[in-house]
Amino acid sequence: MKIGVLGAGSMGSGIAQVAASYGHNVVLYDTNIKAIEKAMDTMQKTLAKVVEKGKMTEDVKNALLSRIHSTDKMEEYAGCELIFEAIIENLEVKKSVFAKLEAIVGPDCILASNTSSLSIASIAAACQKPERVIGIHFFNPAPLMKLVEIIPAVQTSPETTEKAKAIIDSWEKLTVLTKDTPGFIVNRVARPFYGEALRILEEGLADIATIDWAMTELGAFRMGPFTLMDYIGNDINYTVTETVFSAFYFDPRYKPAFTQKRLAEAGYLGRKTGRGHYNYAEGAVMPQPNKDETLGRMILNRVLAMLINEAADALFWNVASREAIDTAMTNGVNYPKGLLKWADEIGIQEVVDRLDTLYNEYHEDRYRCSPLLRKMAKEGKSFY
Ligand SMILES: NC(=O)c1ccc[n+]([C@@H]2O[C@H](COP(=O)([O-])OP(=O)(O)OC[C@H]3O[C@@H](n4cnc5c(N)ncnc54)[C@H](O)[C@@H]3O)[C@@H](O)[C@H]2O)c1
Repeated sequence: MKIGVLGAGSMGSGIAQVAASYGHNVVLYDTNIKAIEKAMDTMQKTLAKVVEKGKMTEDVKNALLSRIHSTDKMEEYAGCELIFEAIIENLEVKKSVFAKLEAIVGPDCILASNTSSLSIASIAAACQKPERVIGIHFFNPAPLMKLVEIIPAVQTSPETTEKAKAIIDSWEKLTVLTKDTPGFIVNRVARPFYGEALRILEEGLADIATIDWAMTELGAFRMGPFTLMDYIGNDINYTVTETVFSAFYFDPRYKPAFTQKRLAEAGYLGRKTGRGHYNYAEGAVMPQPNKDETLGRMILNRVLAMLINEAADALFWNVASREAIDTAMTNGVNYPKGLLKWADEIGIQEVVDRLDTLYNEYHEDRYRCSPLLRKMAKEGKSFY
């Protein structure tokens, strides 16, 4: 199959590599020649390391790379059956690019966007045949992350969804179907991991090292929220939160934190600038956690209750199935357990009680318990 990838940045080059590794001929297009050269060079170096580790032969690597044809001419997309768009996150730019694409490709070519935050419906609306447009959301780095969110827009035909899902499944990815709603599954359900941790910090209940310790040591999360925010970049993480917050008509559950906004403004973006929540400069002293078990449990229970509430609410609003939500969080952000499965283990009534305690303390809508959790607790039901 001939596949097109639009945008040779971190996501586009990763998607191109995945498609080529499954035997497809890939046309990788970008308006910026330097970006194309950098993408090809990085891919070459990354794959050389894979060969060095003995996980791929030199021949396989060379064959893979020979299947990727890079270009700055969009016309070379003629004959493609599927095109992945992974350019800058700007609706007007994406719309104009999709309209141009339609003039080049055949009537059955699927046009997929890798957008993290824009509505697929709004992108599809720029096309003559919006039924062929769909969201296919990979995670970074695309060759390593197994999860892919598949997002049909209101205009998308069932055939497009079926075909797109079948192709991505054949690349040994874990696909989850999700509604075209802000943040899809992962970028919505994960918000409290950062937001509630920032809130606990801002209230002065614990410091960053203690919160990170509680979430990793007691909660078995792979990274603490502050370490992870520094890793993602406080600018990017803040923007995702702000986008989800405004897209949900300013629902206080997603309210961004000033602490993170100020770090972004100061240029304390995280690892990439040498300083974020933590200071990564040589010789800087890393703060040590207060390993108080009671405090640690309070932190974990609070963040986890908010995460479970978010997962349950996504299910309540039919954003995705129970299995899809759990799969998305364990594979998209490597959570140690599916949140709904975790809720069953804790007990639904206990989760409701934790949320109600927070609500009664603050009287803020942020802590309102999802109607689904409350109903399940009343009926003595569990998710599985
Ligand atoms: N980076 C992530 O972690 C991540 C994860 C999932 C989804 N996404 C989404 O994927 C998309 C790409 O993100 P990225 O991080 O790879 O960006 P990036 O900045 O690394 O790359 C974008 C590339 O698109 C090119 N480009 C810009 N406008 C173009 C145009 N009109 N025509 C052709 N090429 C153009 C740029 O030259 C650049 O090479 C965005 O929609 C983003 O929201 C990003």
